[in-house]
Amino acid sequence: MIIQSERISLKHLLSVEALSDQEVMGLIRRGREFKQGAKWTPEKDQYFATNLFFENSTRTHKSFDVAEKKLGIEVIEFDAGHSSVQKGETLYDTVLTMSALGVDVAVIRHGDEAYYDELIESKTIQCAIVNGGDGSGQHPSQCLLDLMTIYEEFGHFEGLKVAIVGDITHSRVAKSNMQMLKRLGAEVYFSGPESWYDPSFEVYGHYLPLDELVSMVDVMMMLRVQHERHTDDEEQGFTKEGYHQQYGLTLERGSKMKRGAIIMHPAPVNRDVELADALVEGIQSRIVQQMTNGVYVRMAILEAILTGRA
Ligand code: CP
Repeated sequence: MIIQSERISLKHLLSVEALSDQEVMGLIRRGREFKQGAKWTPEKDQYFATNLFFENSTRTHKSFDVAEKKLGIEVIEFDAGHSSVQKGETLYDTVLTMSALGVDVAVIRHGDEAYYDELIESKTIQCAIVNGGDGSGQHPSQCLLDLMTIYEEFGHFEGLKVAIVGDITHSRVAKSNMQMLKRLGAEVYFSGPESWYDPSFEVYGHYLPLDELVSMVDVMMMLRVQHERHTDDEEQGFTKEGYHQQYGLTLERGSKMKRGAIIMHPAPVNRDVELADALVEGIQSRIVQQMTNGVYVRMAILEAILTGRA
């Protein structure tokens, strides 16, 4: 696919499904331009952003912070633990307040899937919403940074074989990625515990045993075991070592990967669980690059949102 040079404008960023192929490729292109030093020319003197994180985060929260600061956007700090959320303020009322204060864009991570529906339906809330992760639903900015990283490596998606491995049912990253990778022409495969695999994923790819997949794919996308979303039964099903041996990218499996194939992980990584410690920063790993690309693709997202509002 050829990347068009047209500037992208978005009202909100809620899920990858709502993006056209052209918007996806435009955001990747713009992320790469920002990485190479491109500057944003804002249409107003001052923009305000706030990052409302109701679930823990290091990468998404801090890379939106960095992206906002690189673009010259004023960041209104918010800490749910020291806000009126502690007095019973709802998400709706927090966002309504930020909008009333003049915030242009709210980046939100929340445990409820599709938490954003009531916000975008509101006639009073005026700020744009960027989904920084909704429960086990979607993680669109992570998907875009993953796509940017794959595109940087291979220059295309068509025909690439991508394995998504691990705790798929609980992973918003997996949901966003399987949808977009399939749409962009990649061949998607799945592996991991069958209890964390849902037959509905078959529309995007096929489940194969990990030892069969490891030597045939271009991208090994390993997923974090999401303890915080598990029932007690799911937690008791595996030891760390047992999971690593059965479903992890061990050193032995890593040695069977194709020449030129890469390892990805949205992070944080449970080292020696999903992925052998030595592979995290190894030569085939693009995990550090994914984190760096997160800043630039988020700059592209913010630019597209704010350009649309000016
Ligand atoms: N990949 C990701 O979403 O990481 P954080 O939870 O640290 O934001």
